[in-house]
Amino acid sequence: MTVLERPALTVELPVVLRLAKAADLDKLEWYGQFTHFRALFHRTFREQQQGRRLMLVADCNDFPIGQLFVQLSTGDYSSHRGQKRAYFYSLRVMEMFRGNGIGTSLLDRAETIVANAGYRWTTIAAAKDNPAARKLYERHGYHVFNEDPGNWSFRDHEGKTQYVHEPCWILEKQLHLR
Ligand SMILES: CC(C)(COP(=O)(O)OP(=O)(O)OC[C@H]1O[C@@H](n2cnc3c(N)ncnc32)[C@H](O)[C@@H]1OP(=O)(O)O)[C@@H](O)C(=O)NCCC(=O)NCCS
Repeated sequence: MTVLERPALTVELPVVLRLAKAADLDKLEWYGQFTHFRALFHRTFREQQQGRRLMLVADCNDFPIGQLFVQLSTGDYSSHRGQKRAYFYSLRVMEMFRGNGIGTSLLDRAETIVANAGYRWTTIAAAKDNPAARKLYERHGYHVFNEDPGNWSFRDHEGKTQYVHEPCWILEKQLHLR
């Protein structure tokens, strides 16, 4: 490591986990990286206000550098009838903040919130071409119980329908009151 490559300073930043607020919606586009999800963010936020979804964000200096969304209905995977199941999705952390435990903390916090709301199972999908994500979830207590062709579509910021094909593993975890 040369003198120039040595860190000039080390920055410690507080990261707070909280539910998204209206002012986060533009910021969740991450300066253009996720502009195509604009309508989806707005709809998810409306559904959070209606108590049907949660938008958990990792806030650093009032900017959402990480996110995990939760669908609170029981969903399609009802292998444990009578026990409420929450579906976790859209877990992502800005690239430069990865590897610092933020993704794991988002998972932990979301599990605590839904467990305290009476949910006994959580489900999450890992794209088959993303083995690192699957490994992260398995280390966190999830196990694969299904797979899905991962065909879905969304309306982008220009009103065009975009089709996604992302075959994935479906993992689940049983929750216990914390
Ligand atoms: C997956 C992700 C949210 C993890 O966030 P994070 O803050 O880096 O997570 P943590 O620091 O708590 O844990 C890091 C672990 O995640 C794993 N990981 C999973 N997917 C990863 C990815 N795409 N890039 C980097 N690390 C990833 C790493 O291997 C690491 O494991 P290790 O500790 O054994 O090296 C983040 O990497 C990310 O946003 N990836 C892109 C989006 C994505 O793949 N989301 C999952 C949807 S299926």
